[in-house]
Amino acid sequence: MEIILSCIFCRIIDKQIPASIIYEDEKAVAFLDIHPINEGHVLVVLKRHEERLSGLSEDEAGYLLKIGRKLLKAIQESGIKCEGANLFLSDGPTAGQEVMHSHLHIAPRFEGDGQRVGFIHSDPAQYPRARLDQIATAITDKLARPDKFETITQPTLETKRLILRPYRESDLADIFAYASHPEVSKFVPWEAHIAIEDSKKFLDLVKLSTRTIRDKLYYVFAVRLKESGQVVGSIDFKNVNPCIGQIDYALGFDFWNKGIMSEAAEAIRDWAFENLPKMVRLQAFCVADNVGSSRVMEKIGMTREGMRRKAFVLKGNPVDLIDYAIVRDHEGR
Ligand SMILES: CC(C)(COP(=O)(O)OP(=O)(O)OC[C@H]1O[C@@H](n2cnc3c(N)ncnc32)[C@H](O)[C@@H]1OP(=O)(O)O)[C@@H](O)C(=O)NCCC(=O)NCCS
Ligand SMILES: [Zn+2]
Repeated sequence: MEIILSCIFCRIIDKQIPASIIYEDEKAVAFLDIHPINEGHVLVVLKRHEERLSGLSEDEAGYLLKIGRKLLKAIQESGIKCEGANLFLSDGPTAGQEVMHSHLHIAPRFEGDGQRVGFIHSDPAQYPRARLDQIATAITDKLARPDKFETITQPTLETKRLILRPYRESDLADIFAYASHPEVSKFVPWEAHIAIEDSKKFLDLVKLSTRTIRDKLYYVFAVRLKESGQVVGSIDFKNVNPCIGQIDYALGFDFWNKGIMSEAAEAIRDWAFENLPKMVRLQAFCVADNVGSSRVMEKIGMTREGMRRKAFVLKGNPVDLIDYAIVRDHEGR
């Protein structure tokens, strides 16, 4: 089951709450700050949720500034009072970051606007060259190391009957075929697809949420039958954190109870434990009435840990959730 995000910027990106959006592309969105320093104060965010600047890839961080530059130019030409501007990114609550979804501010400035950037200059005597060099060394030591973002390409896994591989645009019709059946969406937060556009949205979301950074992985696999070549369902893996992995899945109605999802989940389980040394726990959960899903978790060696009562509102109704997990060094891992 997919967790629903509570981040206010993610909700703006998802158009769940209103915002005065001035820019949008496949990776980024920009909108007006509701507490502007001056008129035309804009926030630029990446669509992928990430709390801190250090969690962004080099390309993503560069992209924020690239869009910031473009928007500043438009602001300057728009007639908004903007003799100068402060572009800034507050990283962490201590530095004034209020929404923990990393964002770049573009704040127009003009003579006499009464605003100021509040730093108190220190006494240069406090920082003789020797001290400055010491600080510089502490930083350059870290810089010399390779980029800490180790990425892992989403694998393609093969089992007796299945290929598990990244989704492709050409899977659209197959996705619609399985996701439009009401039984398939009965116990999951998403609604059955009514039009092919819903399946297109799903594909867009997959593209957007895919993360290949080690310890922050998010992969969605298309479950493809070797025999017919048809994509009949999906299974996703995500790192809740470096130590915990989680799977979610759904399968076309006509293919239930043939052991297909257990076969797929087993392959993901083995891949994850073999390739992610920090992962000590693989978990999943389902709505208590979802007998088939519970069985899948049991069949791949997960242990039932308990029930969270009325822990989720499923399509308007509070429901019980059952937690399952398999941990390393026990249960034969
Ligand atoms: C849950 C789901 C993925 C299971 O996939 P699947 O390929 O049918 O699963 P498997 O065949 O590997 O295993 C299902 C097991 O549940 C059992 N089962 C299914 N419905 C059952 C029921 N009503 N009562 C008792 N057992 C049931 C099957 O007999 C089978 O067990 P067995 O192999 O011991 O006989 C599939 O039903 C589905 O996509 N459901 C809709 C989406 C969904 O609920 N996803 C999970 C969200 S947490
Ligand atoms: Zn967010």
